[in-house]
Amino acid sequence: MAAHVLVFPFPAQGHLNSMLKFAELLSLSGLHITFLTTEYHYSRFCLHSQTHARLSQRPGFWFRSISDGLPDQKLRSAARLLELYESLTNNSSSLFRDFLISNQRQETQQYSEDGWPRITCLMADGVMPFAMDVAIDLGVPAIAFRPSSPCSVWSAFCLPSLVEAGEFPFPEEGDLDERIHAVPGMESFLRRRDLPSFFRKARDTSDSGIRLLYEVTASSTRANAFILNTFEAMDGTVLSHIRTVCPTTYAIGPLHTMLRRMSNSTSRNSASFRDEDRSCLTWLDKQPKGSVVYVSFGSLAVMTDEDLMEFWHGLVNSGQRFLWVIRSDLVNGVEEEGSPSMSAPPEVAEATRERGCLVAWAPQEEVLAHPSLGCFLTHSGWNSTLESVAAGVPMICWPFFSDQQITSRFVSQVWKIGLDMKDMHGRDVVERMVRDAMEGERAQELKKSATAMAEKARESVEEGGSSYMDFQRLVHYLNSTGS
Ligand code: UDX
Repeated sequence: MAAHVLVFPFPAQGHLNSMLKFAELLSLSGLHITFLTTEYHYSRFCLHSQTHARLSQRPGFWFRSISDGLPDQKLRSAARLLELYESLTNNSSSLFRDFLISNQRQETQQYSEDGWPRITCLMADGVMPFAMDVAIDLGVPAIAFRPSSPCSVWSAFCLPSLVEAGEFPFPEEGDLDERIHAVPGMESFLRRRDLPSFFRKARDTSDSGIRLLYEVTASSTRANAFILNTFEAMDGTVLSHIRTVCPTTYAIGPLHTMLRRMSNSTSRNSASFRDEDRSCLTWLDKQPKGSVVYVSFGSLAVMTDEDLMEFWHGLVNSGQRFLWVIRSDLVNGVEEEGSPSMSAPPEVAEATRERGCLVAWAPQEEVLAHPSLGCFLTHSGWNSTLESVAAGVPMICWPFFSDQQITSRFVSQVWKIGLDMKDMHGRDVVERMVRDAMEGERAQELKKSATAMAEKARESVEEGGSSYMDFQRLVHYLNSTGS
């Protein structure tokens, strides 16, 4: 029987993006794939991305969807992520069980009536323990994929040690620059402020965010294997720590670089929920080499009106050219009509017309690979970080939540490929950071380290490279689930 992998991401942009790439890679290696997502996100992805139509044509590739249990479309906005998470856990768990049971019913037959084979392995997003539990309960091998940064994953594994060492909860009004010692390998640079921002408010381990972290971490150790989107040359130390708790950990990134290498076609793999504005590529073509600051805060981060204005003034005052993705729900998570440039002061709007380009959503991988790019002002989402790493573009990090706080610390202190703007606000800070990343000696050092890291990323996906080899080992394991 051919191996048939059910790939089930958490329905958020960053998670779908990396898991769809992974699904295509597995398909290119000859495995049967079913990509399962929620109905609402499936319809958005079908509407805005051509990848669905392309992959649906691939023999042995199926799309399926189930309800996320939410009645109202608005509830899925960036600001209501926790509600989506809870609804999935409470409502979609039983739907997922029914889905898997109906597929597994053909005890002796290889195929169901419509030619859809039995699933031989689940590859679930690691932030959905319920999916893992259902599969384990039904005797289907389960693998956990975590689309987050490995450094955040390892620090979450160390949460019990933090509690034991008295380093969590943080004292009320305590100094956020205080060092954290209970995460092996990070003693010399990790501070309270580098842990997820919800740690700052959590008073004990019953906090909902902390409980979630415990559940997610525990479920990873129940999985038959653990997959991370990274490569040894960048995350070797952290990976060796993670392997002390999850011995079968595969590091198979950067996934988008691996996919580009393994697929001979020029077709793009995008799970975008929004229409990409490709006019910014034409604008980039007209800018000098290395001259543009790309600004994007991913799909979930939100900011206040005031923050938006401070960023805007800071960018303009830096005197640099900039390409800025302003999502329609970037300000306070609320969908806005019309362009925010309407409300900018005249001198800012004028400077933006001269040397700026604003779009609602960009083809980010292509933007980062464009020769005009000079640096990336980012929220430090893990996909954005890896896309910047692979393109050799230095970063300015303004982390918003979750894994982003620790990722930005690694960017600045461990990999030295960017600057950390965590917890800093105001136009003067933005201007100074942009100048430091774009002009002078500091900028040259950052560019040199970023270029070297990009080269290591490329080597890791070449034949014989660490990610390439881990991927081959993983495919071998997955094939064994079909025999
Ligand atoms: C979330 C979390 O924030 C992140 O920290 C976690 O690791 C994964 O899930 P998100 O906030 O959306 O994701 O950030 P990120 O991981 O960077 O993913 C955003 C994706 O959207 C990237 O693949 C990026 O290329 C894409 N994107 C973003 C676009 O294609 N166009 C845009 O204009 C902006």
